[in-house]
Amino acid sequence: MKKFKTEFPESFLWGGAIAANQAEGAYNEDGKGLDISCGFPNGIKHEYDEEIDADKFYPTHEAIDFYHRYKEDLALMEEMNFKVFRTSINWSRIYPNGDDELPNEAGLKYYDDMFDEMHRRGMEPLITLSHYETPVNLVKKYGSWRNRKLIEFFLRYCETVFKRYGNKVKYWLTFNEINNMRRMPGGAGGIFLKEGENKQQVIYQTSHHMFVANSLAIKLCRELCPKSKIGCMLSLSNVYPHTCRPEDVFETMELRRRSLLFGDVMIRGYYPSYTARTWIEEGVDVQMEQGDEEIIRTYTADFLAFSYYRTSTHEYGQPFYGDTGGDQGTPNPYIGTTPWGWQIDPLGLRYTLNELYDRYQIPLFVVENGLGQIDIPDENGKIHDDYRIEYVKDHVKAMKEAIKDGVNIMGYTYWGPIDIISAGTGEMKKRYGFIYVDRDNEGNGTMKRSKKDSFDWYANLIKTNARDL
Ligand code: BG6
Repeated sequence: MKKFKTEFPESFLWGGAIAANQAEGAYNEDGKGLDISCGFPNGIKHEYDEEIDADKFYPTHEAIDFYHRYKEDLALMEEMNFKVFRTSINWSRIYPNGDDELPNEAGLKYYDDMFDEMHRRGMEPLITLSHYETPVNLVKKYGSWRNRKLIEFFLRYCETVFKRYGNKVKYWLTFNEINNMRRMPGGAGGIFLKEGENKQQVIYQTSHHMFVANSLAIKLCRELCPKSKIGCMLSLSNVYPHTCRPEDVFETMELRRRSLLFGDVMIRGYYPSYTARTWIEEGVDVQMEQGDEEIIRTYTADFLAFSYYRTSTHEYGQPFYGDTGGDQGTPNPYIGTTPWGWQIDPLGLRYTLNELYDRYQIPLFVVENGLGQIDIPDENGKIHDDYRIEYVKDHVKAMKEAIKDGVNIMGYTYWGPIDIISAGTGEMKKRYGFIYVDRDNEGNGTMKRSKKDSFDWYANLIKTNARDL
């Protein structure tokens, strides 16, 4: 019988999370190639430009200039007592074209210095290998993950970074929100559908290639960085049945399973039995090579990392729809919402943690949770973001309850501790940060960083290990 736990463990990994493409900028500096994030002027839910249009503004090209300012920014994270900082390595800094024979030393050196800086400031790096950053050349030349060759290129990149950073990085994640292949295959995997294609066929086939790549990356990580842990990462904001009508309830379960399938494969090590029917009904025939299923079975994730922002509800017959925040159907009348229609539901986090731990029984890591809001500075330039404090407080309380429920949670990295570019819309206006960045949607501003009210609050939360909540 396990002991009843009431508090966050002392080893709990508190911190924050960003992605390289949403923060670094410097999109073509020091030998970096183009990655797909460079071609979305309005975020990954919207149109993609195969060629960069010189007359357009692309927010990720400069982003918040984390590339040059990371020392200053990490100093602020240290002030907030971060124990862990999540970011991604932008694949195209290391292999500018994805299929290069040799890595780009300038890119490798950049992350070497950044990880050293994190350690100097008392933070463990938590590193996503691929966060919506597939090199453009791989999309153009090979059709991205449609092509099995991508597995080889991804593993070449993984081998390089595991060898280089094996002593510096203890926590790795393979593909950010891999189940977003369902909702946004362009951003998530560089997959752009062609006229007349069976969308489900393309999505499951490309995801299969990514599953094999995920497992082989885990294998490599075990060999090259035996002291590290490597997890899979899913978007798992939740969805409730809109009513107790049995059809609503059943179809909501089916919708949820579309996401959980990804966890089932990467954690249990096999395609769940419900896959067969889905594939038959949707005319899907996934080509696998001999040995693929064995690979997937043998190399499974050490932990499940996931993002949780909100819940929504689903009604029978409603098309399955979603964005960076998760599945989205009919608004829930019982809970409030953000200006972007993301409904705030802390109890939903406790529900989700219990759901996932019941299903997988491996440690869970909340690697994204946060509030995107419009922050308006007062006459002295200060931002009084009580709404953000409230959001985090309620979600942390929900995690504490889940710990009492017996759920094993490794850590919590708040999404966007510093304002960055929104992945879904390309806006700066949608701010998550405890740190304000003076930059607007059109790219105006000084880039100056300043603390919002939530900054000290979060620093104290970590310092006290959330004991006072
Ligand atoms: C997750 C992504 O989907 O949600 C992040 O992993 C993203 O990259 C975050 O930024 C919040 O979404 P958005 O669209 O508000 O930036």
